[in-house]
Amino acid sequence: MGFQHFSTCFLLALCILSQGLAKGAHGFACNWGTRLTHPLPPQITVKLMRDNGFRQVKLFEADPDALKALGNSGIQVMVGIPNDLLANLAASVDAAIAWVNQNVSSYISKNGVDIRYVAVGNEAFLKTYNGRFVNSTFPAIQNIQAALIKAGLGRQVKVTTPLNADVYQSDSGLPSGGNFRPDIHGQMMSIIKFLSQNGGPLTFNIYPFLSLDADPHFPKEFAFFDGSAAPVVDGSITYTNVFDANYDTLITALEKNGFGQMPVIIGEVGWPTDGTANANIKNAQRFNQGLIDRIVKRQGSPKRPTPPDIYLFGFLDEDAKSIEPGPFERHWGVFNFDGSIKYPLNLGGGKQLVAARGVRYLPKQWCVMSTQANVQDPTAFGDSMSKACTYADCTPLSPGGSCSGLDIRGNASYAFNMYFQTMNQRKEACNFNGLSVITNINPSPPQSACQFKIMIDLGKHEKKSTSPSDAPKIQLNLMVMLLSSFIFVMLLLYV
Ligand SMILES: *[C@@H]1O[C@H](CO)[C@@H](O)[C@H](O)[C@H]1NC(C)=O
Ligand SMILES: *[C@@H]1O[C@H](CO)[C@@H](O)[C@H](O)[C@H]1NC(C)=O
Ligand SMILES: *[C@@H]1O[C@H](CO)[C@@H](O)[C@H](O)[C@H]1NC(C)=O
Repeated sequence: MGFQHFSTCFLLALCILSQGLAKGAHGFACNWGTRLTHPLPPQITVKLMRDNGFRQVKLFEADPDALKALGNSGIQVMVGIPNDLLANLAASVDAAIAWVNQNVSSYISKNGVDIRYVAVGNEAFLKTYNGRFVNSTFPAIQNIQAALIKAGLGRQVKVTTPLNADVYQSDSGLPSGGNFRPDIHGQMMSIIKFLSQNGGPLTFNIYPFLSLDADPHFPKEFAFFDGSAAPVVDGSITYTNVFDANYDTLITALEKNGFGQMPVIIGEVGWPTDGTANANIKNAQRFNQGLIDRIVKRQGSPKRPTPPDIYLFGFLDEDAKSIEPGPFERHWGVFNFDGSIKYPLNLGGGKQLVAARGVRYLPKQWCVMSTQANVQDPTAFGDSMSKACTYADCTPLSPGGSCSGLDIRGNASYAFNMYFQTMNQRKEACNFNGLSVITNINPSPPQSACQFKIMIDLGKHEKKSTSPSDAPKIQLNLMVMLLSSFIFVMLLLYV
């Protein structure tokens, strides 16, 4: 009895302790985008998150492989619903019920996934969508909420909708002038009221990088947390960085409309490392280190001292993302596509970022422009470049990108190699009108951020023909399987 009592107490204490640890003084949160030609295996990705203290993750859709890997991982999950599903979910509560059953309930009950939020739509009110999703977002939120309640998940799983920071603005240019955009003000009020009644937070994406990249007159130092820009004085408050100023514009907008206590999540924030001049390792490290220091210190903004949960964008680079927003779009990862480290980050308490382990790569070979090839043949050359860069990621060659300093042969080689790697090093993928050749010598320029990649092995490259010694092994495995099924069936019959 005494011992049992003691062990219960002990277990309880352990539980409380581990809960405390899980909530952590500084657990990090990130976005896991899956637009990669060669995705890091989900199990390795989840391990990488855990190894680096990430405790929350946001997915843009209910990706089955990602969700399964997150099962019983101790990581809390926000599952997104893409905008193109909104109209359907808005029109029918049955569609919402089906979505929740397939994409939430089953992963919680069958796979042990700790789903905490459903993110309905993604930046649905973005100005560039010209109002396409404005009418379907709120009804879709209502139907997903109803479906969650019906599934018995109303308490456990909260609804939110990630919005771009362009849903609010300030006429005075100062945070104290903040309010929601007039064209969507009514929709915003309906959504905020509904979410607050159901205990759901608001989610906003804030991008100092985009402010800087879009405006040549933007004071660069104001984009960073440790910047030396002249501060912006707003009444009694002094702002030293655009993140706080932007966030407090939102907080003012909420206060002005009677929702000053509304919980807020930062759904995306980060800095890319390639594709344009401001997207480089130095700036990304500076910005993200400043952000992480705030998360570790639990520092809020001048108007709201309690910090929001902040989801870094993104976890890994995504070489298959649309580059409509700009060539930097494929380079938002804190890590490279393969989970290797781009730049060191101090995660607090003396902890440094650690890289992924157990990643399998394709052989160490590259496809480059042959020394005999003639760059003067414009058709063969142009066609080859455009073929390579249509199917593979050539954004490091963009002006200001990490490989923009290469000469014309160098950038052809870069493009050829990206195509060759993206096509899993298949021999016929290094054939550009006779301009290219496969080499074992790493063509990356020394002392440069420009890296000629080798992709992850997805098991799709040319294998050497199956060695004859494999055949008997396969037969033996088959025999064992048949035998065990036989024994199993006999046992069933016997019982
Ligand atoms: C579940 O989510 C996936 C990915 O977003 C989607 O393709 C599928 O249609 C969803 N299931 C239902 C029943 O809506
Ligand atoms: C949204 O609804 C409003 C009011 O019913 C309507 O005027 C508008 O055309 C609709 N917008 C779209 C894009 O369907
Ligand atoms: C290739 O290199 C040349 C010369 O350095 C440069 O002017 C050109 O813009 C590059 N082409 C591409 C597609 O990056």
